[in-house]
Amino acid sequence: MDGNGRWAAKRFMPRGVGHKAGVDSLVNVVKACSDRGIPYLTVFAFSSENWKRPEEEVSGLMSLLIVALSKHLIKLRSDGVRIRVVGDVAQVSDKVRQALADAERQTAENSRLVLTVAFNYGGRWDIVQACRKALDAGVRSDAMTEEVLSDFMAMSYAPDPDLFIRTGGEVRLSNFLLWQSAYAELYFTDCLWPDFDSSELDKALHEYARRERRFGGVNVDPSESRGAV
Ligand code: IPE
Ligand code: MG
Repeated sequence: MDGNGRWAAKRFMPRGVGHKAGVDSLVNVVKACSDRGIPYLTVFAFSSENWKRPEEEVSGLMSLLIVALSKHLIKLRSDGVRIRVVGDVAQVSDKVRQALADAERQTAENSRLVLTVAFNYGGRWDIVQACRKALDAGVRSDAMTEEVLSDFMAMSYAPDPDLFIRTGGEVRLSNFLLWQSAYAELYFTDCLWPDFDSSELDKALHEYARRERRFGGVNVDPSESRGAV
């Protein structure tokens, strides 16, 4: 979800306004994914690298998370959204950690759409934490396979993403879901995240469908696609 700051700057407003607009955009995209039967949506809300931003912006993002959860949780819960959090949450404040844990707990029974919020997440962190957990669990080097390590990755509960969308014009992965995106279709758009709406989502989905038809091999059954974005 990139481009909040530039969206605000274009309007001569502080970056925080862009982040707020980004939350509204996310709420709309969650609804649009749910309406389209997409069972998994994973968003990069705060990266391990985002701590390098000015203190004021970091604390603004933390407060925004808490405000956004309290504002939208009831609706998300009644819409069947299950919230899950991946990332090194041990490093965030008690207040933020509790708000995230509370959102997970309150939506734990839902299954219509799993919204994974990557918070203080990094793809390399994920691979390292998976290795550590595997070692702690006593996995020996000769027993270590991709499948075994996958079980220790932060998103072991979800299929690998089919489609990876980055907004805001940059053409890089920036340490998001490195392991899981090995076969994901990558989609980059100049659209700034607060402007990303259901029609932008449809553009990405159409592009995805087109690529599947062109490169998917001879016997690809579209119903086998698991629909993770
Ligand atoms: C995305 O927007 C923000 C986060 C998810 C933390 P940016 O803040 O990176 O916006 P730009 O790139 O400066 O426009
Ligand atoms: Mg950015």
